[in-house]
Amino acid sequence: MIPNTPIDFETVKKILAEDAVKDLAKASIRELVRIVTKIETETGQKFIRMEMGVPGMDVSEIAKKGEIDALNDGVASKYATLDGLPPLKTEIARFVKLFLDIDVKSEGCVPTVGSLQGAMLLFMVANRREAGDTKTLFLDPGFPVHKLQLKVLGQEHLSFDIYDYRGEKLHEKLEELAQTERIASILYSNPNNPTWVTFTEKELKIIGDFATKYDIIVLEDLAYFGMDFRKDYSQPGVPPYQPTVAKYTDNWVMMISGSKSFSYAGQRIGMMVVSDTLFNKKFPGLLRYFTSDSFGYSLVYNTLYALTAGVPHTPQYGMLALLKAINNGEFNFREHVKVYADRAKEMKRFFTENGFKIVYDNDEGEPLSDGFYFTLAYPGLGGSELLTELMYYGISAIALATTGSTRTEGLRACVSQTDASQFPELERRLKLFHADHVQS
Ligand SMILES: Cc1ncc(COP(=O)(O)O)c(C=O)c1O
Repeated sequence: MIPNTPIDFETVKKILAEDAVKDLAKASIRELVRIVTKIETETGQKFIRMEMGVPGMDVSEIAKKGEIDALNDGVASKYATLDGLPPLKTEIARFVKLFLDIDVKSEGCVPTVGSLQGAMLLFMVANRREAGDTKTLFLDPGFPVHKLQLKVLGQEHLSFDIYDYRGEKLHEKLEELAQTERIASILYSNPNNPTWVTFTEKELKIIGDFATKYDIIVLEDLAYFGMDFRKDYSQPGVPPYQPTVAKYTDNWVMMISGSKSFSYAGQRIGMMVVSDTLFNKKFPGLLRYFTSDSFGYSLVYNTLYALTAGVPHTPQYGMLALLKAINNGEFNFREHVKVYADRAKEMKRFFTENGFKIVYDNDEGEPLSDGFYFTLAYPGLGGSELLTELMYYGISAIALATTGSTRTEGLRACVSQTDASQFPELERRLKLFHADHVQS
């Protein structure tokens, strides 16, 4: 008998059998998007789409107006300065002071084409300071594009899954690695994509102390700035502040993305912020590649120049208007995106009430924040089976296995494309899934 699943069983089976991707647990996000879209098109049925982190909010009118005004003022015919518009640089430094309580000079605040460009520039400079200084250590699970960037650059990486190394164990693991490996840089996102784990102050101190001790540069990816919704990090100049490793070492660079916290993904603007000490620090090994031995100068006048020669004018003006409003307390970015947490809370409830478990569920004992992503598993099923089975129920996600996680039974779900109007259908499908899979 053909199983009666929410999405036509035979069609899903046929598409999966014919597809070039043989194991969904190995599929990239974009491959899953392609497969799910194909099933939707052929069956005419809609999925609850949780595979890709597409920001789901409108961009603020303030940013739009900033861009339009700049365009009308005629900026499009001129080149933008390489290291960013001076007023934007000042506003970024102000933002870092007001929301992280960190002092930084505006020279170290550089707009980039998405925070991903910042990572690319940083790999090119931080991992070329001296001969042999080529490896990045990822505190995984992580965002696969960063590893792709290293591959493109021909650089190497190390990684471990933080699942088993929280708190003091993180210190032990880092020290163990340092005995056999020369690590040039460490990258992690906080909150973490894909798990929404957020490092505690104790863990940030461990990372900061380690970086100072071994002359490692910390690349702190704040793609989800202020989105640990357990605390309100959105009041300018008022604690609590977004936690950062910058409190514990001078060897820091932050990448603050415009995409998620400010719903500005399409304009591809991010902010690279380099500590004052590091920006002006000299590394003779850089002269093998660049015209200067200075870290900050190499970032701007060599790598950024070589890639895109700066960031287009109008997104810079849009970001400038938005940051000014945020810094002046006239626009609360957290209110704009908090709906993600409300969604995650409900969606996690539907999953856990229907036999699923949250895989990464605590920060040193404290339950994780609800946010943009969460992780899930279903007892008795591996990640590949679970991802495949969920296709028949019209639910898509990605396998944690693609993110450097050791929890191969787990999936990552993103809440951004699911709004409350889809909750009854999600719940109905999960109930059917559970009824069909629960071990009696
Ligand atoms: C952890 C992480 N870092 C960086 C990025 C890329 O950000 P941007 O759009 O600013 O390049 C993302 C986007 O999903 C992300 O999840």
